[in-house]
Amino acid sequence: MSSAPVQRFRIALLPGDGIGPEVTAEAWRLLETIAKLEPLLEFEQESFAWNAEHYLATGSMIPDNGLDQLREFDAIFLGAIGDVRVPDHIALRQLIFAIRQGFDQYVNLRPVKLLRGGFTPLANRGPEDLDIVFVRENSEGEYVGIGGVLFPESPEEVALQTSVFSRKAVERVLRFAFELAQATNKPLHSVSKGNALNYSAVLWDRIFNELKREYPDVVAETLLVDAAALHLILSPNRFGVVVASNLFGDILTDLGAALVGGLGFAASANLCPDGRFPSMFEPVHGSAPDIAGRGSANPIASLWAASMLVGHLGFSEWETAVLRAIEEVLVDGSIRTPDLGGSASTSDMTDAVLSALVTRRMSAPVV
Ligand code: NAI
Ligand code: MG
Repeated sequence: MSSAPVQRFRIALLPGDGIGPEVTAEAWRLLETIAKLEPLLEFEQESFAWNAEHYLATGSMIPDNGLDQLREFDAIFLGAIGDVRVPDHIALRQLIFAIRQGFDQYVNLRPVKLLRGGFTPLANRGPEDLDIVFVRENSEGEYVGIGGVLFPESPEEVALQTSVFSRKAVERVLRFAFELAQATNKPLHSVSKGNALNYSAVLWDRIFNELKREYPDVVAETLLVDAAALHLILSPNRFGVVVASNLFGDILTDLGAALVGGLGFAASANLCPDGRFPSMFEPVHGSAPDIAGRGSANPIASLWAASMLVGHLGFSEWETAVLRAIEEVLVDGSIRTPDLGGSASTSDMTDAVLSALVTRRMSAPVV
């Protein structure tokens, strides 16, 4: 009998601000639990206190050699960033955008999936109607950060914010989406706005149509972003994989989050698909200063993001097992954080998910 070697992964934790550290602690507990249940898997973590306090003490969210420190890890887990004492555009750009761009994490993967026992504001819709994966371009587009202000803070001031759409970046993210749609046998929708954005979106659409010929087995369609917003509400069941530029993907995935229970259920992965750099996993929500420090944040988005991390490292059966365990807790309904109408704490909710995971493993081995 051949014995497979134990795989040991090093995870960099960036807990951040507000509820970030609270939900990151729960994500780490999940990883530890999986490592206990899965003999072939071990995790080691190092935590980096790069947050508002770091900024106030040093003038920067992350040290000069920050990316070098992270480079050797197998994956990064980010809690959330944001504190009233630091302007948001500085905090997010210096940390989150620096990592996404510096590590060429050009795919932002966001499941919009209604879990069993979860909540949707759409009438007569269930989990079978809402099972979408968004592929958001994550390296350039509208968020590339190029521009300037002329005559600042004067009546004549002019702000320029330039979008960048390169053939290379558009093609690789569209190709990723085609591959995903093909592998999962789902329809693919490309969201753009070719009627108004006559340069960038026209290029996007043209490359999409070129690739469509390479993937004749994928049912692929383009949609204008405004129409996509409408159809996501009226007929979410027609969507499988959706690919969009940075800005459109950002907005539509918040709409998507609202359809599947809110920010408590929105997880995301920033992928460097060729593995040259580590990928980064995070809940979509921010630092939630209004509830920070109370131990009442919903940990599900964070647990979900951690499960995506485990899937990315090659243990996708555990990703599925975590989702099943979360569903079990939601269907049972007795343990819920305040945002879900209950009074359970963050760690109570995690305890319930972990115990469902352990019980499932005992009764039906995952691997
Ligand atoms: P937010 O996501 O922090 O909070 C929005 C609302 O949702 C709040 O009422 C909050 O209490 C609630 N909420 C969020 N996550 C929750 C959870 N896990 N459980 C229960 N309730 C939850 O967005 P907001 O208030 O606009 O921004 C707060 C700060 O976070 C800002 O500084 C913002 O820039 C930053 N931010 C950071 C992000 C990141 O780190 N990726 C993403 C979004 C915002
Ligand atoms: Mg967003």
